[in-house]
Amino acid sequence: MNTQIIILDYGSQYTQLLARRIRELNVYAEVVSFNTTANDLKKYQNLKGIILSGGPSSVYANDAYSIDQEIFNLNLPILGVCYGMQLITEIFGGKVELANSQEFGKAILHLDKQENKLFENVKNDCQVWMSHADHLTQMPKEFVQLAYSDSSVAAIANLNKNIYGIQFHAEVTQSEYGIQMIENFLFKIANCNKDWTMQEFIKEKIQEIKTTVGSEQVILGLSGGVDSSVAAVLLSKAIGKQLTCIFVDTGLLRKNEAENVMNIYAKEFDINIKLIDAQEQFYNALKGITDPEEKRKIIGHNFIEVFNKQAQELNNAKFLAQGTIYPDVIESSSEEHNSKTIKSHHNVGGLPEDLKFSLLEPLRNLFKDEVRKVGRELGIPDVMINRHPFPGPGLGIRVIGEVTKEKCDILREVDDIFIKKLIKEDWYNKTSQAFVTLLPVKTVGVMGDNRTYDYVVALRCVNTIDFMTATTTHLPWEFLEEVVNEIINKVKKVNRVVYDITSKPPGTIEWE
Ligand code: XMP
Repeated sequence: MNTQIIILDYGSQYTQLLARRIRELNVYAEVVSFNTTANDLKKYQNLKGIILSGGPSSVYANDAYSIDQEIFNLNLPILGVCYGMQLITEIFGGKVELANSQEFGKAILHLDKQENKLFENVKNDCQVWMSHADHLTQMPKEFVQLAYSDSSVAAIANLNKNIYGIQFHAEVTQSEYGIQMIENFLFKIANCNKDWTMQEFIKEKIQEIKTTVGSEQVILGLSGGVDSSVAAVLLSKAIGKQLTCIFVDTGLLRKNEAENVMNIYAKEFDINIKLIDAQEQFYNALKGITDPEEKRKIIGHNFIEVFNKQAQELNNAKFLAQGTIYPDVIESSSEEHNSKTIKSHHNVGGLPEDLKFSLLEPLRNLFKDEVRKVGRELGIPDVMINRHPFPGPGLGIRVIGEVTKEKCDILREVDDIFIKKLIKEDWYNKTSQAFVTLLPVKTVGVMGDNRTYDYVVALRCVNTIDFMTATTTHLPWEFLEEVVNEIINKVKKVNRVVYDITSKPPGTIEWE
């Protein structure tokens, strides 16, 4: 990979977005820890520029994250964003202090007359997005002010050394000319080349996989989700039948899921797939269990057990392939990642070390939208690529309380009606995730002249960019009424449907 831009990560929630924006401009950017040294950076042969991200701390705090100052002697253009600009200010003899009033949200960017490349083709008085409590109170030496907002210095530069700082977040869509500024930094200041494309990635990866794998065997846990599917197809293009995928039917899958996966990947792509029917094992293990965390752990353990057993049977396999993607890599290596466990997420990870496989993670440098592009290039149908995410524990966390086959069957039917209706009415691709949860309560209803006493289901449909926060999709009343009607009429044992309009936070997307 031809890394041209390195982003030093100071823990901003927008760091990944910054890298994505740059890659969307066909320049390969990588996120590394803030404590990466100048010597480490010298290993990148085609490095053209460095970006210092934002971050939650204050540069004047005793334990503030700093920078190896040798990086400023590499003679590479540097752009500091928010915390990054404040760090540059401190290091070059300026001052940063707590502001009287914080600046969060929209602000107007007033450009100074100072000629500079960063703001070429940027309109004066455009809107930018601010998110800071500290501000610059004294300019660093040999720097000039390039722009200001109504309450702070908004951009600075040492034009001779090509060191720039912006107080606002150019990477978010609320900053009107943000992309233009990033483009200016990449192509007018750092002289980057546009050489990052998915076709190039596929070509290189296939070659790399062939060389790494040689004549050995590879196994992969296929979930039907986008990441593992794209990894499987990419690997199969490279090594064909040396790849064996294992697809576990846990009994907690959506309607016809196993069938669909087999149809597309085994038939259309001619990939070796072993379908393991482990439904009984999962239903038995979940008998009587109602606590959400306990359910998640049981499902995770059983999954590993089933996968492990299959993997051991393929004892000639040397490599284990996984659909790990870049956000997982950044998050697990981020020094900042000390957030509380809200839910213990489960994927294929956590396999015992004695399996003695070498790991193959062909997508570990890609963001989700890049994985989708690769998938499309590889010919995976859009219905699979554009699927909403589905949690590892599946219906196990969408049947609230004790999980049984009967309840999963009811939920599968309701979910299928909801999703099909969303697709038919052109809502599916306009929302980020939609699903149904079966509640452990029964309520009274009336059908015909008879009393019913059946389950309640909750529909949920959310819009989100990163799944960290989410808002409810405003589905039209008519749509909701029609879908409720269809569910009650078609699915026995359900007599009441509710629509969950809780945002995240305070709710989470899944109910458990
Ligand atoms: P929450 O419920 O935490 O969900 O707001 C955020 C996103 O993550 C998905 N999710 C999971 N994905 N394994 C996964 O791979 C899991 O254990 C898991 N739990 C939740 C959820 O569907 C939503 O997209």
